[in-house]
Amino acid sequence: MNLPKYTPLKAGIIGCGNISDRYFQAGARFHDFSVIACADLQESRAREKALQYPGVVGMPVSQLLDSKAIDLAINLTVPGVHAEVAAMALEAGKHVYGEKPLALRTSDGAALLALADKQGLRVGSAPDTFLGAGMQTARKLIDDGWIGRPVAATAFMQCHGHEHWHPDPEFYYLQGGGPLFDMGPYYLTALIHLLGPVKRVCGLTSQAFPERIITSEAKYGTVVHVEVPTHVAGTLEFVQGAIVTLVTSFDVWRHSMPHLEVHGTTGSLHLPDPNTFGGELLLSRAGGETWEHLPHSHGYPTEARGIGVADMAAAIQRKEPHRASGALAYHVLEIMEALHTSADQGQHISIRSCPPRPDALDMDLRDGCVRT
Ligand SMILES: NC(=O)c1ccc[n+]([C@@H]2O[C@H](COP(=O)([O-])OP(=O)(O)OC[C@H]3O[C@@H](n4cnc5c(N)ncnc54)[C@H](O)[C@@H]3O)[C@@H](O)[C@H]2O)c1
Repeated sequence: MNLPKYTPLKAGIIGCGNISDRYFQAGARFHDFSVIACADLQESRAREKALQYPGVVGMPVSQLLDSKAIDLAINLTVPGVHAEVAAMALEAGKHVYGEKPLALRTSDGAALLALADKQGLRVGSAPDTFLGAGMQTARKLIDDGWIGRPVAATAFMQCHGHEHWHPDPEFYYLQGGGPLFDMGPYYLTALIHLLGPVKRVCGLTSQAFPERIITSEAKYGTVVHVEVPTHVAGTLEFVQGAIVTLVTSFDVWRHSMPHLEVHGTTGSLHLPDPNTFGGELLLSRAGGETWEHLPHSHGYPTEARGIGVADMAAAIQRKEPHRASGALAYHVLEIMEALHTSADQGQHISIRSCPPRPDALDMDLRDGCVRT
């Protein structure tokens, strides 16, 4: 079995809320890192997770940051403090991988990347769903020429928000939330991985409901004041020429649009939900009248959150670039901010950052491995 020949990096999780279980589980599944500590502003949450996961010690955030045993902080706090917590980890000499978005503003994102450079440390960011079987297969099909030159794509993420299921859904309606900053990263990262970087954008936004009422259990009936647009329609021009339509909404009760389609000069690809690792891929080539189902070419067809952390840990050890990188997350942040700015100013906005496409993964990876 192809296990890494070096010691796995030791990680500490900051933020032990709803999504954290996925990362605790990933630490046990992937060979390139293990989770040895966790912390939360609510210390009881960290203690509970430590009881649940053998080998993990719950501690205050300051102790986790001070610990010399920890190489890497996994930042799973709410979006409003992502940049602040990540900066604290970098100042403490730790690499940091965080949930999306990278920061609330590009100025904060740029400061974070500059700090990492200064410290000689890595920044990585969710989403890492583009490393799953669905998007890796789509990448291979496009790179191998099955649809010719991509000329257009459509991306639709529409729902009625998260207040009916998330126990603490307030952050979805504050700065850093909204459908674009919350769900846009899945769609944008997948598209950048498939097509390369974005050149310019224009957007329109609206907000159907100034207040949301929580209907999940503990906070049932609590009113949340909405700070952000909850319907964002955008058009994006990619550097390679494709024009992409992106709609993200928390104002839609039901819809029947596909999550993601990419259209090329000789065919069209219907892709799975980019907020999943697997899913169905359909191809229709020029002149064809139906869709053909395609098998996955790559591994990780089911939930594998944390694969981006494993890839970053492996890349650190091997001195290679990592895929779910700070530069990629910054590009996504710049696009999202520009879509909102375009709507406010009524003009196209050029995108300045231009990261390379992350490399495709190897096709024959064993579970828990990110390198052959
Ligand atoms: N819940 C999901 O299904 C999901 C899925 C994918 C990504 N995410 C992303 O993961 C992040 C966390 O989401 P969640 O649903 O777990 O939220 P959550 O509110 O359930 O958990 C966040 C945790 O962070 C803690 N926290 C907040 N500020 C902190 C600070 N300064 N220091 C230490 N701890 C702090 C909170 O006490 C809380 O326990 C968000 O960026 C979200 O977009 C969530």
